[in-house]
Amino acid sequence: MSFDPRVWTAHAHAKVNLHLGVADARDDGFHELATVFQSLSIHDVLTLEETSAPVGDQPTQVDSLEVDGTYALGVPADDSNLAWRAVDAVAQRLRDKFGPRDLPRVALYLTKGIPAAGGMAGGSADAAAALRLADTCFSQYYDMDTLGDDELMEVAAALGSDVPFTLMGGTALGSGRGEKLVPMMSRGEYVWAMITSNEGLSTPSVFKKLDDLRAAGKGSTPSMNTAAVAQALMTGKPQQLAAALTNDMQAAALSLRPDLRKTLDAGIAAGALTGIISGSGPTCAFLCSDTGIAADVVSQVTVEIPGTRGFVATGPAPGARLV
Ligand code: C5P
Repeated sequence: MSFDPRVWTAHAHAKVNLHLGVADARDDGFHELATVFQSLSIHDVLTLEETSAPVGDQPTQVDSLEVDGTYALGVPADDSNLAWRAVDAVAQRLRDKFGPRDLPRVALYLTKGIPAAGGMAGGSADAAAALRLADTCFSQYYDMDTLGDDELMEVAAALGSDVPFTLMGGTALGSGRGEKLVPMMSRGEYVWAMITSNEGLSTPSVFKKLDDLRAAGKGSTPSMNTAAVAQALMTGKPQQLAAALTNDMQAAALSLRPDLRKTLDAGIAAGALTGIISGSGPTCAFLCSDTGIAADVVSQVTVEIPGTRGFVATGPAPGARLV
């Protein structure tokens, strides 16, 4: 029988935390969060192509991963990439659920539109897209036996704290380590100028810095009440949302990267309503009253601050989905 390889493509959207409350570290090392996630229009594109007819148990289903695009620099093109591991996690889960089965080997092609290590969950979004692609591809051979959304969310949580939200998209309240999600109401569309930094920040190092600051009596108390952001989102008014934006990681990110203070000041001077560190940083997210102002913020800040790039993004946007 001849093999007719199939190919699927998915979009993987970035996120911004409108509220990021961080409590103390738990026994497992993770921090309990009270966060409000919103997906952004900016996205990576992930394509999965079959490279072989179905074969039995393999150490990995993935033959290769190619990475290109504006923000490809520094993104691993091997099995340390979360998208690669997501494909294997789906194969494993299908075999655990339905018993031994032959599955095709695949190649992945990733075009990065989201900066890596930027605090926008780009790697997590790629994993979420890979979960959807692998579930779709692998189900073709067995009467459409898919994992379905609930099980995909469980596999997502095992891959990383931000993977479940990037799979779901929209606007959501996150608790636990960020993996427990409840959809939230959000009226209207919000416009952001996102300013990225050439040098990334590692998420664990920012959590550690926050712990150190708190141990020295310098950190803020955990902001675990998300009501102000929830209320602002109901109004659809960016001015209200700007006044409610909260990030407990900001002081720690600024302590590791004091230069980001200049970027925040420059964006506000250029006309943004306000600016915050996105997630654990170093990306700075500027909420703006319209796209014209957001474009001005991007052009002014990137000229003024060396080593920065920027783009305009809107939210909310969908979660990872096939296109
Ligand atoms: O879950 P994920 O792999 O994205 O987390 C990366 C690291 O970030 C964790 O190993 C941990 O150090 C830190 N983290 C945390 N609390 C969270 C989420 C992440 O301390 N809620």
